[in-house]
Amino acid sequence: MTTVFDPVRLGGLELPNRLVMAPMTRNRADDDGVPTPIMATYYAQRASAGLIVAEASTPNAVGQTYPNITALHNDAHVAGWRRVTEAVGAAGGRMFVQLQHGGRIGHPDNSGGLHPLAPSPVPLPDTIFTPRGHQPAVVPAEMSADDIRTTVADFAAAARRAVDAGFAGVEVHGGNGYLLHQFLASGTNHRTDGYGGSPAGRIRFVVEVVRAVAEAVGPERVGLRIAPGVTANGMHEDDAETVYPALVGALSGSGLAYLHVVFADPDQPLFQHIRKLWEGTLIANPMLPWPGPLPADGGLREGERLLAAGADLVSLGRAFLANPDLVERLRLGAPLNPLRDKGLMYVGGEEGYTDYPALTETS
Ligand SMILES: Cc1cc2nc3c(=O)[nH]c(=O)nc-3n(C[C@H](O)[C@H](O)[C@H](O)COP(=O)(O)O)c2cc1C
Repeated sequence: MTTVFDPVRLGGLELPNRLVMAPMTRNRADDDGVPTPIMATYYAQRASAGLIVAEASTPNAVGQTYPNITALHNDAHVAGWRRVTEAVGAAGGRMFVQLQHGGRIGHPDNSGGLHPLAPSPVPLPDTIFTPRGHQPAVVPAEMSADDIRTTVADFAAAARRAVDAGFAGVEVHGGNGYLLHQFLASGTNHRTDGYGGSPAGRIRFVVEVVRAVAEAVGPERVGLRIAPGVTANGMHEDDAETVYPALVGALSGSGLAYLHVVFADPDQPLFQHIRKLWEGTLIANPMLPWPGPLPADGGLREGERLLAAGADLVSLGRAFLANPDLVERLRLGAPLNPLRDKGLMYVGGEEGYTDYPALTETS
């Protein structure tokens, strides 16, 4: 039986194990979205993951979600990320980065005055954190055909920059309520042109982004993350059972590095259907209690259930956040560090970031 400790090939990489550090936004970039030196330390500490998927990084200015999120649309972003990839490489690790456009999850105060764009003018039913505190979400502007073309090109350019910065590849974020998910979901996509309406219309933007990114850097350097049916960030999907098979069917066989499914439940028919349809490597992020507390094994048992159900790799978020040497701890059956104050997740500084000890530091 395959275990998370078995090696596996992913795209052009040989991974020493099947444990993936899930992308996690930690708001440690500077005010211009440039990764800071503590980020190199944090990721290098976690280099024993089979693969690290670095946190959401914005492909253009208007797609910026919150303050201090990393970006990948200018040379300073590339230089900042290069410090991170070099540190991870020196520590023996392998790294992709996630590309995320916020769509309606954004605010002019977070994007240099630019007004958020989305498939339809449907606002986030929530507040948005800005440098001036929480503010009501604005009604996003409906993307024109030209906005769509530009955004697709921005994703491709960001992917090229990611490779220049030393990443082995990029993960396109199609989940969790951000722009691509907003196109997929019936609740946020009310368009009447070729990018809305039927499932075939609603998947079109995502397919175009993924194809453009794959053309820019090679399909073996590209993953796609999806979150079928996830209701975070005010999302609503009437027909996930139709939309996701259509999306996965359209992209299966295009040689992508992987498909990454968030909150995957091995007993769910849609997960099983997606597994059957997707010809390539599948990373599954288990369904664990959210916001917590985490199980004592950080999600290992759920991960093993997913491997048994056909996933090839397992991604864990919070367990990697709190345990720089998670792979070793799980291999040894050693206790895990508990997650500390949730308030430390999305703020600057080393506390709750680089100061979680490894086993060698606790014994
Ligand atoms: C602090 C934090 C930040 C996150 N940021 C992102 C992100 O940038 N992109 C993303 O796709 N998911 C993000 N997530 C979701 C994780 O990738 C993962 O799906 C989630 O934590 C569930 O996995 P877990 O139960 O192992 O933590 C974040 C989660 C946490 C806890």
